[in-house]
Amino acid sequence: MKSELNKNNLVFQRPRGTIDIYPPSSFFYKKVYDVVTKILTKNNYSLIVFPTFEHEELFTAHLGDDIIVHKEMYTFSDRKGRKLVLRPEGTLCTARMVIQNSLLKEGYQNKFYYWGNMFRYERPQKGRYREFLQLGVELLNASGIYADYQILSLTRDILVSLGISNFTFRINYLGSKKTQKSYELEIKKTIQNSKFELCLQCKYRYENNPLRILDCSDCGYSNIFPEYKIVWNNEDKSYVESLDNFLAKFNFPFCYDYSLVRGLDYYTGLIFEVSLINEKTAILGGGRYDELYSKIIQKEVPAIGFAIGVDRLVNYLCENKLLDSERKIDLFFFVTTNIWYERLLSLLDIFKNNDLIIDYNLKPKQRKYLSKTIEYYRPRLLVLLDKEEQIKIIDCLEKKTLWTTLDKLTQNIKDIFSH
Ligand code: HAM
Repeated sequence: MKSELNKNNLVFQRPRGTIDIYPPSSFFYKKVYDVVTKILTKNNYSLIVFPTFEHEELFTAHLGDDIIVHKEMYTFSDRKGRKLVLRPEGTLCTARMVIQNSLLKEGYQNKFYYWGNMFRYERPQKGRYREFLQLGVELLNASGIYADYQILSLTRDILVSLGISNFTFRINYLGSKKTQKSYELEIKKTIQNSKFELCLQCKYRYENNPLRILDCSDCGYSNIFPEYKIVWNNEDKSYVESLDNFLAKFNFPFCYDYSLVRGLDYYTGLIFEVSLINEKTAILGGGRYDELYSKIIQKEVPAIGFAIGVDRLVNYLCENKLLDSERKIDLFFFVTTNIWYERLLSLLDIFKNNDLIIDYNLKPKQRKYLSKTIEYYRPRLLVLLDKEEQIKIIDCLEKKTLWTTLDKLTQNIKDIFSH
């Protein structure tokens, strides 16, 4: 049915930067969710769910002085005047949840994942929305290269299990906040010595968050700055060397991108992003944030995590035909008269414990609608429940009648669908 709504009827237009998800693309979301959850569960990661909105201060205090905080947050006041924010990301929500519920135990790791919509007031374009779905993974109380590798290899496994093979992890090593400060001085020095004009936003960044000048697409100066590694101290160098060797030993697909800085302020140490071939935007990003918890609870909680942009991932999978989009109905019962329904319902009980997808029409339909119904539902098998002598089980793929009695139904269906 074509939309009969007047285009100017704003009430029935979705807000700018949002998307509707419905079949068949919703099947892809479900598939991604199933694949990812299976891998994470196998690796002992547990699901967490936090509120869609949090106190504004959670983000203003810890996301740094950048545009997410200044321009992109959906901030509102509730009836009591409390300042709240629709969550723009999940790492801080996880930290708030973990701290408030005392989930940390010294000497033990916490392994969490979340699947949730995030909100950022960005300029909408392909793959960039104002409400978008993220799958986030956080590994807490875990430092060192084995923890880094667990997160990197988990991310790789998720991509591979979705049929994506052509990717490289772009990584950089930010080091501690002190190392980052040294690099900020290098950035400022380079800008002072060059004649380049910064965009309005980067003029602000120059004063407040110079690292972000590196990934400004408007200025595009990322290659005028010295390589990040010039500010690594001996400790940073030896960590990077061990990590490099380890990744190489396990054939991990990575390359250094010294202009990679990431948009969020809490990162220290390893950071990474993956962009897929021919895609401008990153499909996922993450990194280590060893100093975030200590700023809130004065306790060392080394941590690393990542988040996948699920909408971007699903777009990519659809465009590259990497998942079978159609959910196939296995069995459709076409009922032509009311007298069949009671028998049909007890028949359906037999199939309760298997995985077949089964449907039937809820009001009797005339036989003349049979082929239209097959066309619409595209079932593998259709059972025509007509008058007693006119039962037919039709193989819709082969377009032939298989048998004409219900007696054989369950056994034969088991045989058909077991391979
Ligand atoms: P992020 O890089 O801001 O990191 O977001 C992660 C992913 O979410 C991006 O790579 C992208 O695929 C997707 N994404 C971001 N913004 C949008 C948008 N406007 N529309 C569609 N997709 C978008 C974080 O959020 C960190 N919390 C990740 C993390 C977890 N780091 C450590 N733990």
